[in-house]
Amino acid sequence: MPPETLIQLDSVNKDYQMGEVTVHALRDMELSLPAGVFTVLLGPSGCGKTTTLNLIGGLDRPTSGRVLVQGRNIAVLGDKQLTGYRREQVGFIFQFFNLIPTLNARENVEFALALRKDQAEIKGRALELLDMVGLKDRSGHFPSQLSGGEQQRVAIARALANDSSVILCDEPAGNLDVETGRHVLSVLHDMIQDRGTTVIMVTHNTALAPMADSIVHIHDGSVASIEQNDNPVDASQLEW
Ligand SMILES: Nc1ncnc2c1ncn2[C@@H]1O[C@H](COP(=O)(O)OP(=O)(O)O)[C@@H](O)[C@H]1O
Ligand SMILES: [Mg+2]
Repeated sequence: MPPETLIQLDSVNKDYQMGEVTVHALRDMELSLPAGVFTVLLGPSGCGKTTTLNLIGGLDRPTSGRVLVQGRNIAVLGDKQLTGYRREQVGFIFQFFNLIPTLNARENVEFALALRKDQAEIKGRALELLDMVGLKDRSGHFPSQLSGGEQQRVAIARALANDSSVILCDEPAGNLDVETGRHVLSVLHDMIQDRGTTVIMVTHNTALAPMADSIVHIHDGSVASIEQNDNPVDASQLEW
């Protein structure tokens, strides 16, 4: 494996059993993702994007094949080790924000920092992150008191709280109107700039692809083609 490869899917298959029917969500998927690159996984609904992301994030295991992260096959890890991997190395941003409704914005970000000991440090770090996503004055608001775009910015702050090396985003703008989505993606882009973070973003929306360094086209559970983009555009310039 070349040293710059961070994540590698090697002959990955994922089947879902639905009663008598077997759904082949991923078919011999081969994918190699370098560190520090913004990749978009692009393809129509049902082609296997979320399944791919869930396997990379250790939320699920493949039916067969290897999921290598820094050379370690996470497909064979036990539940405890997989939880440790997710906690230490991965930040997630989902379509429906997935904030905890009973915690305010600051506490939602703090949740990701729960393994740290120093309470003052945790609070300071959470406020610093909320400030970076432009929500310093909303730290005491509960999710129900925040707009969709604000909730997603809290989710970005949470995903980045632990300085995870990998950020996984599943249709992060999918539930937002165009202008808000553009703003949220811009915030995400700004937050990861210069950090060397590896970002993998799943979308069915071709209009979002130009913000990525690399565009992986998924078709019917495998990689159809990969496009390199030498001039990624700022999210604020996207039209969709
Ligand atoms: N938990 C599940 N049980 C059964 N089938 C599933 C499950 N998750 C996904 N699938 C099926 O696997 C295929 C790929 O799904 P998914 O990865 O969610 O696609 P995408 O994110 O590209 O829309 C689809 O046919 C979907 O219906
Ligand atoms: Mg999906």
